[in-house]
Amino acid sequence: DNNLSISTLLLRWYDVHKRDLPWRGTHDPYAIWISEIILQQTRIQQGWDYFVRFMRRFPDVVSLAQAHEDDVLKLWQGLGYYSRARNLHAAAQQVVDRFGGQFPRTYSDILSLKGIGEYTAAAIASIAYNEPYAAVDGNVFRVLSRLFDIDTPINTPVGKKQITAVAQSILHPRFPGLHNQAMMDLGAMVCTPAQPECVECPFQEICLALARNKVADLPVKNRL
Ligand code: ADE
Repeated sequence: DNNLSISTLLLRWYDVHKRDLPWRGTHDPYAIWISEIILQQTRIQQGWDYFVRFMRRFPDVVSLAQAHEDDVLKLWQGLGYYSRARNLHAAAQQVVDRFGGQFPRTYSDILSLKGIGEYTAAAIASIAYNEPYAAVDGNVFRVLSRLFDIDTPINTPVGKKQITAVAQSILHPRFPGLHNQAMMDLGAMVCTPAQPECVECPFQEICLALARNKVADLPVKNRL
């Protein structure tokens, strides 16, 4: 059907164009968690070395839980937003205290950890466990508002709800983790905020914004 073809187009594109990143090629939920927290407010180019160093120093959730907070913060030096590092440390201790040192398996248990919101829980659950949760970040808001010509402001509760529902409805049922990572790459490499590369886009023949010459007008944001 139509939605399957969207995610099939996406995965076919991803297979050719995916970025080779140090946290890809693992299904370790701990590694995926660390990468997602680093990438929340940090560009890939800067986050790459921090991720590699972090994993070398704290290779698993128990080693992170047992660390002194100062040592975690020292490793975070230069990345900014230090509450991310404090939350990582606290959440690692929650994993030890509440889940016996085993990273939780379900979306709702993952979501219950300190510093993990809906986006991060969906990214971990889908990439590590292939659970069918759409990971909806700014990239996804942009791609889907263009693909479906949605002009509801994305910085409103209604807009967020609408795009999240669309994202969930087109998610590849068998490969949600690959689908989510493909959306991230498409938003970062093709469907960019300025000068998107529509001629390179796997959706160029079905994108409503492109057909209606509205790509530059989307997504819509309300003034706050
Ligand atoms: N941005 C946030 N998470 C990412 C991931 N897993 N891969 C690439 N870019 C990302």
